[in-house]
Amino acid sequence: MKLTIAIDGPAAAGKGTISRAVAAHFGLAHLDTGLLYRAVGARVAEGMEPLEAAQTLSEADLARSDLRSAAAGRAASEVAALPEVRAALVDFQRAFAARAGGAVLDGRDIGTVICPDADVKLFVTASAEVRAHRRWLELRAAEPDLREADVLAELRARDERDSQRSTAPLRPAEDAVTLDTSKLSIEEAVAQAVELVRRAVAGRE
Ligand code: CDP
Repeated sequence: MKLTIAIDGPAAAGKGTISRAVAAHFGLAHLDTGLLYRAVGARVAEGMEPLEAAQTLSEADLARSDLRSAAAGRAASEVAALPEVRAALVDFQRAFAARAGGAVLDGRDIGTVICPDADVKLFVTASAEVRAHRRWLELRAAEPDLREADVLAELRARDERDSQRSTAPLRPAEDAVTLDTSKLSIEEAVAQAVELVRRAVAGRE
């Protein structure tokens, strides 16, 4: 059976880790769609027009080592609010979702816009404080001067921008199952996600 799994949620909720683990568990390919927006944001920060940056995105752009920084996250969320940028990235994401072996895609609008017919939809979330703490721990090695309070403020601004934009705002699909990871370890969150997928698949058979 070809499985398509959509995993959405706000920044640093655990989507990436959960998506990679779910993909590995079920033998599916994985696409972190945030990386597409981060790469477009990075090119725009260097002076390129947003639409051109999205239309000519290459594998090399996605392999850049600077895409995980706080600045790249901010740039991503700014270009992600542009409808023409989102439209230019739709075909690539849908083609990935349709691959023969099945796929896990994670992002903000996978269950609502990119793959509305996904077999399983998870909405992974956590409190803003917990997410800011996790993101601060992640970024601290590369950005030692970063303050946790600033990470929290940045994350709140990004949540606001991502949920208020008119095109493909961040929100759970009606048929998504919400997984709140605020009080879960990585292992617990992954185990719960795998179980939710297993149940959803069993319900379909
Ligand atoms: O890892 P984190 O959740 O912080 O960010 P990300 O998933 O890499 O996404 C970075 C930004 O890209 C988000 O704040 C969104 O504005 C945008 N994005 C989006 O609009 N739609 C997606 N499917 C994925 C990301």
